[in-house]
Amino acid sequence: PSFHGVNKFLTLRDFSPEQILHLVQKALTIKNQVKSGLPPPSQPFAGRTLGMVFSKRSTRTRVSCESGWAWYGGHPMFLGANDIQVGGGEPWKDTSIIVGSMVDCVLARLGEHEEVETLAQYSAAPVINGLTAKFHPLQILADIMTIYESYAPTSSTSNGPLVPLNNLKVAWVGDGNNILNDLMVSLPRIGISLAAATPKGYESPEDVVEFARQHSKGGSRGNGQMGTLTLTHDPLEAIHDADVLVTDTWISMGQETEKAKRLKDFAGYQITEAMARQGGAKADWKFMHCLPRKSEEVDEEVFYGPRSIVWQEGENRKYTVMAVYEMIMIDVSSSFKSIRQ
Ligand code: CP
Ligand code: NVA
Repeated sequence: PSFHGVNKFLTLRDFSPEQILHLVQKALTIKNQVKSGLPPPSQPFAGRTLGMVFSKRSTRTRVSCESGWAWYGGHPMFLGANDIQVGGGEPWKDTSIIVGSMVDCVLARLGEHEEVETLAQYSAAPVINGLTAKFHPLQILADIMTIYESYAPTSSTSNGPLVPLNNLKVAWVGDGNNILNDLMVSLPRIGISLAAATPKGYESPEDVVEFARQHSKGGSRGNGQMGTLTLTHDPLEAIHDADVLVTDTWISMGQETEKAKRLKDFAGYQITEAMARQGGAKADWKFMHCLPRKSEEVDEEVFYGPRSIVWQEGENRKYTVMAVYEMIMIDVSSSFKSIRQ
């Protein structure tokens, strides 16, 4: 697929199923390269700077994005929002114009999704979303990659296009948050069925649900190759027949003051072996979580047990962001500052 003209990566909703699978496949290839221990074949980002504007904490995103950029010979520059003038009230618009005028690519972890949209609007350099309250596309690319490694190991080691995983069902039990939102706008479109249980009042935003409903089997823009989408308030219904169970924290960054209410409202949502048995998940179901994990949403037995593929999922964050860098900096011939080969 062509990535012509792409100069931002804000949500998987903006990318076609072919583009998403191409990025995952590229990430699988990059993983082999990095794991081979051979030094990078060239240093295409030598002299190039990645500006990392973060107004929230991060372990995985920061480490994967910095080390991934450095692998190509580039310089990652971490700009915590409290260390730059935005923390003292300088508007995002002004910050975007200035930072974007001096770096070659911007990677941002911000609060409201509109903030990263502003950044993309005013930055001359391409912008990658490293999480907003609404979307976390880098995470979901890593999730899809991990699913391919587990359920299509041969296709993930060959160099051909990835085959659709039409018989797979992923179940989400948790909050209608950034992680679920990007899962919803991508999984059914690449052929994977998704069932999500959220407590009442914690559903995903309407525009996300509307897009996902349309772009799934039986939807107005759906087709027979797409996966189904089921939205419910009943965790047991969601996990019935599921291959993969996924969850995330019930209290996302920025929601700390709602903690007591959320803990109450999510009662009965903790993923356990007993829940999976009762709901009738597949016998060999696997567990995924973007991390960091809190104990309320999944118990120790599942999280640290043999079903859990969370460490592989976490590591894959590195190879997927590298695939996005290659897309934006190398493959996109029209991108203002992309590297022409
Ligand atoms: N999953 C994820 O984005 O983790 P961090 O918050 O540690 O970056
Ligand atoms: N939903 C979580 C994801 C953290 C990676 C948050 O936004 O805090």
